[in-house]
Amino acid sequence: MYNDNPTLEGVTKEIIKERQGEVFFKEAEGAKRFYIESYGCQMNFSDSEIVASILSEAGYAPTRNMEESDLILINTCSIREKAEDTVRRRLRVFDKVKDNRPGTLVGVLGCMAERLKKKFLEQEKLVDLVVGPDAYRDLPNLVGEAEEGEKGVNVLLSREETYADISPLRLGSNGITAFISIMRGCDNMCSFCVVPFTRGRERSRNAFSVVAEATDLYNKGYREVTLLGQNVDSYKWQHPETEETVTFANLLEMVAKVHPDLRVRFSTSHPKDITDDVLYTMRDYENICNYIHLPVQSGNSRVLKLMNRTYDREWYMNKVRRIYEIIPDCAISSDMIAGFCTETEEEHQETLSMMEFAKYSMAYMFFYSERPGTLAARKYEDDIPLEVKKRRLQEIIRLQNQISYQHSQADIGKTFKVLIEGDSKRSADDFKGRNSQNKMVIFPKKGDFKAGDYVHVRVTDATSATLKGELV
Ligand code: SAH
Ligand code: SF4
Ligand code: F3S
Repeated sequence: MYNDNPTLEGVTKEIIKERQGEVFFKEAEGAKRFYIESYGCQMNFSDSEIVASILSEAGYAPTRNMEESDLILINTCSIREKAEDTVRRRLRVFDKVKDNRPGTLVGVLGCMAERLKKKFLEQEKLVDLVVGPDAYRDLPNLVGEAEEGEKGVNVLLSREETYADISPLRLGSNGITAFISIMRGCDNMCSFCVVPFTRGRERSRNAFSVVAEATDLYNKGYREVTLLGQNVDSYKWQHPETEETVTFANLLEMVAKVHPDLRVRFSTSHPKDITDDVLYTMRDYENICNYIHLPVQSGNSRVLKLMNRTYDREWYMNKVRRIYEIIPDCAISSDMIAGFCTETEEEHQETLSMMEFAKYSMAYMFFYSERPGTLAARKYEDDIPLEVKKRRLQEIIRLQNQISYQHSQADIGKTFKVLIEGDSKRSADDFKGRNSQNKMVIFPKKGDFKAGDYVHVRVTDATSATLKGELV
């Protein structure tokens, strides 16, 4: 979420703080140690937990100290040029560690590994391993090869791999909330987007393995799961024997039934795929959170067509109306791209008016960054000057800050059910938690409540990103 600072710089810092560079920190005794940093979307963070599990099975222990690790891994993102620049900067840092500790291996995982493949080894001399998102089972093997002095590369994409049988090692976790990956890849081909190239074809994970993972998490004390995919609403899994098809609405219901005290969230929804069935299921189960991340990208129909989003302005607006009709207290958030190829000022204005219409509780906002190999890079000229892109983005951010502020102000006086996630960052006298609408709520401790408990909090004050309140 974004802070009150309306400047681009302030918001960018927030994104960096929130999305980048989480480090696993559980120390353990073991012959060899690995250190892993993750960048990019939640899927990447979830993948790092799968990688950690695979390496643990192979006898590697995690460490948070890269100086004492035998294997440094970086799970990378290619979504915008800036994301890739960050990765290259980190590689310079790892280089120094390698100088002090010869023999330490450096591995690049994830989307940038997939995009650049072998080229990575030519561009970055210090890299020993390049492993794409579908090749993590091969990691112990590749590490073995690299230890022998061979460069280890596996960037094969798969049509089947979902890592369904791997139990993620939740090292960076608060013990209360967890991600469950339910599908991989994306078949959508939005013209600006590199994901279909780095993550391959869309495939859905065995529904029963998803339910089993949710049940296991509940039994271990977790109280919230987020079902993850690039496009969760197109989840579709067929039982190999009964041939019964499980849709996303079915899966949501199956996970909601694990336990009424296990909250269920999901991300991301593509506007074209979210069905009334999903909305009715959300309405019918109290533990499915009333929050939908529904990225619009642009509010203008011509730009949406160029983006290959397959919906137009009217269609998106109807979807938003439908959500508020079926789930009146639902919060909707979004992603916006400023300055896509050929976007005019009037078309940019339509993004702003869409934001007012949809009343987003929050948004991730970017300016367009051309990605090599995408449809847009091949077909359209990246013709909006950088200053114009940045100015339009500023306008989007400024407006979203106002809308988020109003959204939160409207919560003052309301009482919400909040799942306590732990102590607030600022003070050990306060708890933090989220309401169903995914807003962070801060309130003074009272009684003997603890992380993982549900409490009711009445909101007394609000900024654009946080609600403050008291226990009732
Ligand atoms: N699957 C999700 C989005 C994944 S990428 C969806 O379809 O909504 C996350 C966000 O990054 C996108 O929603 C988009 O707003 C942004 N993004 C993707 N490619 C981009 C690019 N080339 N330049 C700027 N922003 C981009
Ligand atoms: Fe990218 Fe579009 Fe797929 Fe999202 S739906 S990952 S934006 S191609
Ligand atoms: Fe980035 Fe890959 Fe996710 S490009 S946003 S890490 S799917």
